[in-house]
Amino acid sequence: MIHEANRLKRLPPYLFTIVDRKKREVMDKGVDVIDLSMGSPDMPAPKGVIEELCKQARVDGNQRYSRWDGEVERKLRVTIADWYMDRFGVSLDPESEIVPLIGSKEGIAHLSLAFLNNEDIALVPNPAYPVHFNGVIMAGGILYNIPITKENNYMPKLDALSPEVVKMAKLIFLSYPHNPTTQVASLDYFQEIADWARQKNIIVGHDLAYSEIVFDGYKAPSFLQARGAKEIGIEFHTLSKSYNMSGWRIGFCVGNRDILKTLAKTKSYIDFGIYRAIQYAAIKALSGPQDSVKKTVETYKRRRDLFVDGLNKIGWKVKKPKATFYIWAHIPLKYSALTSMEFTNLLLEEAGIAVAPGTGFGEYGEGYVRFALVEKEERLKSALERLKKILELEA
Ligand SMILES: Cc1ncc(COP(=O)(O)O)c(C=O)c1O
Repeated sequence: MIHEANRLKRLPPYLFTIVDRKKREVMDKGVDVIDLSMGSPDMPAPKGVIEELCKQARVDGNQRYSRWDGEVERKLRVTIADWYMDRFGVSLDPESEIVPLIGSKEGIAHLSLAFLNNEDIALVPNPAYPVHFNGVIMAGGILYNIPITKENNYMPKLDALSPEVVKMAKLIFLSYPHNPTTQVASLDYFQEIADWARQKNIIVGHDLAYSEIVFDGYKAPSFLQARGAKEIGIEFHTLSKSYNMSGWRIGFCVGNRDILKTLAKTKSYIDFGIYRAIQYAAIKALSGPQDSVKKTVETYKRRRDLFVDGLNKIGWKVKKPKATFYIWAHIPLKYSALTSMEFTNLLLEEAGIAVAPGTGFGEYGEGYVRFALVEKEERLKSALERLKKILELEA
């Protein structure tokens, strides 16, 4: 008998694997499943970026292991610094305040591994993108969930934490615009967090994956724009969402140099960095014309309007999010006896629509499902027709 490590046994079941399996079963029965379950963008990466990848893949030398002091590696860090200055007005030293990542998920998991001892608490808002809490468990730290619900505006109430918890806390994860709730935060809120964290000496890991997927004139601030944030904070970014490069695996982390040094040290024992051709392509994405990002956002906005208006029309009351490509939808009253997993199964089996159960993001996601708008408008219209038919809500 082969036994997995205890740290894996402590992980909650990965509900997406369960949803995926069920989705496969339903598809095998011949059902045309409309898949709104995963946040995996369906649009193509920018054309020029793909061309750069192809060009660089042919260049001898790019197949070798990536090195911190290599030419493209330096260029990528400088490009990231320029992008940050341009986008947020935040100045970063390319040599010490930027660490490229093999996707931001990798960096988030390794941050916990880099800093948490067995007696250290990581404060994690719940619901959250799963690696925020799973990374803590895998690292052997103590996971302390902070419920974020509609009642507290999906923002952690830090003054409600007990002094004992705060004393043991070494790390807090935050992420605005937020997946799955779509909540956004102001710079004033980040300032409060930065002041609190500095006073308590707690590392802030801010996940800014959806900084560019914003609507209606909203502009997402960077945590590092807050005064003093760089003294205790780092921020995660990804090219997965803004540039539709999720499968390419490239992101980056910026901010406090000491935290980043430890993160880079941890990574140096585990990985060899990012394929160089992908680094060239990322430089192209970040420094080239940004019209592809604009087009992507416009497409998500059209989908958001169509889907949210459609849901409201069939009697499922939801609000338009200011950011992200998700809809965080309360389970309609008529079905409120069902858990979010049961309701997810109902939508899959009865309507052929795959969504993410709210509890896939933690126990405080109970009562909700999350739609990811990663299918074309025609498919979203079909999803609305199917929902109308099976749910029979009072419009
Ligand atoms: C909040 C958040 N952070 C990070 C990620 C992962 O991004 P990456 O592809 O860079 O690992 C996702 C992906 O859905 C996400 O929603």
